[in-house]
Amino acid sequence: MKQLDVSAIKDGSVIDHIDSKSTLKVADILNIQNEEQVVLVGMNLTSKFLGKKGIIKIGGKIIDQKEVNKIALIAPDASVNIIKDYEVVKKFKVEVPEIIEGIVKCFNPNCVSNYNNIKAKQHVVNKNPIKLQCHYCERVMSVKDIVLI
Ligand code: CTP
Ligand code: ZN
Repeated sequence: MKQLDVSAIKDGSVIDHIDSKSTLKVADILNIQNEEQVVLVGMNLTSKFLGKKGIIKIGGKIIDQKEVNKIALIAPDASVNIIKDYEVVKKFKVEVPEIIEGIVKCFNPNCVSNYNNIKAKQHVVNKNPIKLQCHYCERVMSVKDIVLI
């Protein structure tokens, strides 16, 4: 069968199974415009599970935990593959942590966390779809309210 695909990479990270509409947001988190090696972005690719998925492949980069935590917030079904010499050497699903600190701005403009250099902090009350409750003002945010710091 002929299939449209995004080509393999030699070394780096592949973020797969991104909800297609969130692909460019994930690209923003990963700051791909500043990468110097090969970056491949695919959107609206066919997926058995998601219907349509996005995929991002970044040559020469091993993504870090903070990036994984951010991705989990906007693409909770995403999986990460670490590639070495064309082989997948590590594969894991992103996971939303129980507590988010210093990653998401509270959407309540009057919240104390938006003043006085207090680090924003939310409790994850639901993982998929994401619901975050502010530790300080207790307002609950959903994905549309999320602004990354
Ligand atoms: N990949 C890549 N370059 C490689 C090896 C793999 O870009 N040298 C990509 C594949 O295109 C795929 C992802 O990394 O999107 C995971 O690869 P693999 O585990 O081989 O594919 P699947 O079995 O389809 O993965 P999954 O079970 O996670 O859907
Ligand atoms: Zn708040």
